[in-house]
Amino acid sequence: MSVLSQLNIIQVKGLTKSVSTFEGDLTILSDINFSVKSGESVAIVGASGSGKSTLLSLLAGLDVASSGDVYLDGESLKALDEEARARIRAEKVGFVFQSFMLVQSLTALENVMLPAELAGEKNAKQQAIELLEKVGLSHRLSHYPSQLSGGEQQRVAIARAFVGTPKILFADEPSANLDSKNGHLIENLLFELNQAQGTTLILVTHDEQLAAKCDRTIHIDGGKLVEIKVSKEMTNVV
Ligand SMILES: Nc1ncnc2c1ncn2[C@@H]1O[C@H](COP(=O)(O)OP(=O)(O)OP(=O)(O)O)[C@@H](O)[C@H]1O
Ligand SMILES: [Mg+2]
Repeated sequence: MSVLSQLNIIQVKGLTKSVSTFEGDLTILSDINFSVKSGESVAIVGASGSGKSTLLSLLAGLDVASSGDVYLDGESLKALDEEARARIRAEKVGFVFQSFMLVQSLTALENVMLPAELAGEKNAKQQAIELLEKVGLSHRLSHYPSQLSGGEQQRVAIARAFVGTPKILFADEPSANLDSKNGHLIENLLFELNQAQGTTLILVTHDEQLAAKCDRTIHIDGGKLVEIKVSKEMTNVV
């Protein structure tokens, strides 16, 4: 392994997230600590409501911690304002949301082109067409999200997250709405990106087989990190 690939691309220190609700303060995540090396693939697993999506949003700088911090490629997210976090996300991060978050007024092609255009890439359209082909959607380029099935919307969201070959790809249940054929297609694309480009993969999944393909599995229970499992050796390190 090269020195570069040994670097911690994500470091999570004492990460805690609380929100105010009508019933009082609710702690969603409590004192989470772990790090991820560049090029690693990590699955985040746990029951519904355990805090997985909240954790992913914090890791990607889409949400801010109540205490503790996330260092993304060496930068403290706590120290940055929203504009600076947006810049880091645009430069380094791809994100597949659990609820897709496609722009309803744009076609599949335009949704995938959008981040490429925002990044000022000249070949945005070509890149978007190629990515949509890869996820098996070349016949749906001009469909709006409301004209796409759930699994098709998920694949558009995945194609969009691949734009610009991000250093870190976060995906929240990327194969949840897919049949086994398309699920495998997406898994292969994710691991291809991981292996060919060295993209760090952080996946939330309920799929044990997908989790087992990742280098490590982080288990969250009731907002706490309860176990980190190394996939191949099945060794408990926490
Ligand atoms: N803004 C918020 N205000 C109040 N409660 C919230 C907020 N965001 C999340 N929660 C609560 O925090 C808990 C964790 O939510 P989160 O979406 O992270 O769970 P999850 O592990 O991703 O679940 P799932 O597997 O169902 O997607 C849930 O009980 C949720 O209701
Ligand atoms: Mg979730």
